[in-house]
Amino acid sequence: MIASFFKSILLIEVFMVGAEALSMGYYIMSCPFADQTVTDTVNQALRKDPTLAAGLLRLHFHDCFVQGCDASVLIDSTEDNTAEKDSPANLSLRGYEVIDQAKKLIEQQCPGVVSCADIVALAARDAVFWAGGPYYDIPKGRKDGRRSKIEDTINLPSPISNSSDLMKLFWQHGFNARELVALSGAHTLGAARCGNFKQRLSNFDAVNDVDPTLDSSFAKSLSRVCAAGDDAEVPFDRTRNAFDRAYFWALQSGMGVLASDQTLFSDPQTRRVVNGYAMNDAMFFFDFQQAVTKMGLLDVKEGNQGEVRADCRRVN
Ligand code: HEM
Ligand SMILES: *[C@@H]1O[C@H](CO)[C@@H](O)[C@H](O)[C@H]1NC(C)=O
Ligand SMILES: *[C@@H]1O[C@H](CO)[C@@H](O)[C@H](O)[C@H]1NC(C)=O
Repeated sequence: MIASFFKSILLIEVFMVGAEALSMGYYIMSCPFADQTVTDTVNQALRKDPTLAAGLLRLHFHDCFVQGCDASVLIDSTEDNTAEKDSPANLSLRGYEVIDQAKKLIEQQCPGVVSCADIVALAARDAVFWAGGPYYDIPKGRKDGRRSKIEDTINLPSPISNSSDLMKLFWQHGFNARELVALSGAHTLGAARCGNFKQRLSNFDAVNDVDPTLDSSFAKSLSRVCAAGDDAEVPFDRTRNAFDRAYFWALQSGMGVLASDQTLFSDPQTRRVVNGYAMNDAMFFFDFQQAVTKMGLLDVKEGNQGEVRADCRRVN
């Protein structure tokens, strides 16, 4: 009697956890066209502005590394709360309007069902594929968080970190050195602004004026661009809108833009991985897809740990 009582509690619990857990077909009954709506919205936006693919992928990263993948990065600041997006690390995050547009269309089909956190993850997936990268299906069912605070962005890596610092930070989020390199491969898309790497170009350290891991003619061309100021942009590789291996070729030639990029080639442990990906894009794509799916599961909120926001920019 008592045993069966406990057994049924156990069963209920298993069932409830099962029902709330993430799954590929999470919206199959409740909002069957959610996935497709995100894809269509992203494709339409990228046809107009291909550089937004980078923005959407970066949004997903900044979301997941701060408070888990719960769309906390989308929250606007209010009178009594300064949100993540207003931290200096927010810099130049882009693609918010694409998420808003997808959310709007999905709300018209099935109000209150699809979380902003899932839309961010799906949009990143679609951006990677649109840019020529791997396609991967992702589990859905993330709930949106209710907290977004500027101080939480301390969890984001710094562009001046060396490889051991990066390995440590990524290890704290459950990633090994190989996954760090695969995820950094996201920098095959997009650009960085001079404010984030100009320290490499002059008065670098006691011995060197210019970062010695930087190719010297590339250093000169960076200096020329950066004469225009901290907001001048330099693409991470020769193909800024294509998801390809060119980023790893850049590292091999001392043309990594951020110190945190080039350090992956300076450290023998990560250099091995860089060389592997530079040679074999199937391997890079496979590892990236595994690692980014794993990133998409960081500290996700399920069931009543979160909510489905009506407006991605504010908590309900
Ligand atoms: C390894 C540690 C990382 C560091 C230190 C780092 C840092 C940065 C910095 C400083 C920028 C340039 C921002 C600007 O100047 O406007 C940037 C851009 C970018 N990051 Fe990272 N990042 C890291 C990892 C990642 C990961 C894991 C992803 C995604 C999976 C990612 C995706 C991107 C993308 C796509 C851009 C280009 C954005 C654009 O062009 O709009 N990054 N990152
Ligand atoms: C990013 O944060 C800075 C403050 O550090 C703020 O001035 C800027 O408006 C923010 N940008 C966005 C897009 O939210
Ligand atoms: C990496 O940088 C940290 C400081 O951020 C320093 O303590 C450490 O010695 C550096 N490691 C290497 C291998 O240069």
